[in-house]
Amino acid sequence: MRANVVASIDIDTFDEYKIAQSMETMPIESGFRVIITDSQTKAYYDSFSEESYVGKLLVYESITEVLVNNKNTSSYYEKDGEWVIEAAVPIVKDQKTIGSVFVASSGEDIDEIVNHVTWAILIFGVIIIMFVFVLSVFVATLLTKPIVKLTTFIKNMPKDKLQKCEVDSSDEVGELVVAFNELIERVDELEEKRRSFVSDASHELKTPLSIIKLLSDSLIQTPHPDPQFVKEFLNDMGAEVERLTRIVQRLLDLTKMDQTSKLQIDMVSINNIVSEIYEKLMPLAENKEISFVLNKPDDDVLIPVDRDSITEAIYNIADNSIKYTENGGSVKMEIMRDLGNVLIRITDTGIGIPKEEIQKIFDRFYRVDKARARDTGGTGLGLSIAMDAVKLHNGYIEVSSEEEKGSTFTIVLPYNSDAAPPVEEIAKTENNLLTEE
Ligand SMILES: Nc1ncnc2c1ncn2[C@@H]1O[C@H](COP(=O)(O)OP(=O)(O)OP(=O)(O)O)[C@@H](O)[C@H]1O
Ligand SMILES: [Mg+2]
Repeated sequence: MRANVVASIDIDTFDEYKIAQSMETMPIESGFRVIITDSQTKAYYDSFSEESYVGKLLVYESITEVLVNNKNTSSYYEKDGEWVIEAAVPIVKDQKTIGSVFVASSGEDIDEIVNHVTWAILIFGVIIIMFVFVLSVFVATLLTKPIVKLTTFIKNMPKDKLQKCEVDSSDEVGELVVAFNELIERVDELEEKRRSFVSDASHELKTPLSIIKLLSDSLIQTPHPDPQFVKEFLNDMGAEVERLTRIVQRLLDLTKMDQTSKLQIDMVSINNIVSEIYEKLMPLAENKEISFVLNKPDDDVLIPVDRDSITEAIYNIADNSIKYTENGGSVKMEIMRDLGNVLIRITDTGIGIPKEEIQKIFDRFYRVDKARARDTGGTGLGLSIAMDAVKLHNGYIEVSSEEEKGSTFTIVLPYNSDAAPPVEEIAKTENNLLTEE
């Protein structure tokens, strides 16, 4: 570019003095060497006075290229360990090349420029890095501030009391705090249930233990007890031990329901399960002269259930029906199907349940008539075990009851009808089970 500027100089004749005069007005930085030659490569101007080329022929490839081909040239090369930049352009007058302008810069200058640019890039880079660093620290602090607040809140929460955190934003962190608070609520509810369960269970266990203690104390304190009296006391103590065993067994059943991983899901025939329960309960029904009937459909289905827990659920409900039906009444067990569900319905003509109590009978340890329950040996856990088992299978239990008339319990268990194997498969599966055993 500098060469082009110089080439615009108005030259009539190649006269050293005139050219030198004209060049005085040219903006040429120190460090750049400008040489002007005529068409014969003879130098008429040299901006360097030391070892000046004026009057000498400059047989430089770049100059001859310019003069012969009328073409600008430029090159950048290393000489004696220094970088040099050169450019040459023709001086044209009346469309004729009358000379050339040759510009070269010393290596030191280029190094200086390169150094200058390198430093500029370095400083600029450092400033950019520092800026990005400060900006990211600022943004990170801004983003993590609410999370740090939540973490501190959780860390400082008293160990014996769960507390909710204040929600002060509606962004993702706000949503996290809301979810955290919901979790706290759920944990609180579970803790409350656990506490009341432990207290109810202890109370239920304490009653038979107190009775046993009372009976044994009175035996000890009687100096010469009548053998008949002793036998009666021992019988009562035995009954209480049985009751204790029953409660403990029920509690173990409940614990099993809490551990879903212990469930063993198999395809089982619902007709078979209900028939087995029916057979087991028949003697109890006969004792009370209850008409006990089972209606099962001809077309059976296999449903994916944990055999033990579902058997327990149906058994507990059917057992209640016989237990809470007066002598001479009737109890009916039915298996039905609707779209996607198997229904097991147990209907009795028993004492019924007051409307306001129906919701509570599935609560743990709940019995409608506590005095009567003691006679029947009821623990109040049978229905809650049944409900847990059915819920674990994504089913539900429907109840309708009328006092003095009777009750109907319906267990609804879903099955995927596509997956339910046809009836013929049942025999095959059960044969396999027998063979495996
Ligand atoms: N078919 C029914 N008819 C009338 N009352 C019932 C019937 N089924 C349940 N109940 C009432 O619901 C209460 C809770 O039943 P649940 O089976 O949970 O306990 P339970 O029968 O007393 O004790 P367990 O089942 O451990 O022997 C019973 O005490 C009884 O009052
Ligand atoms: Mg029961």
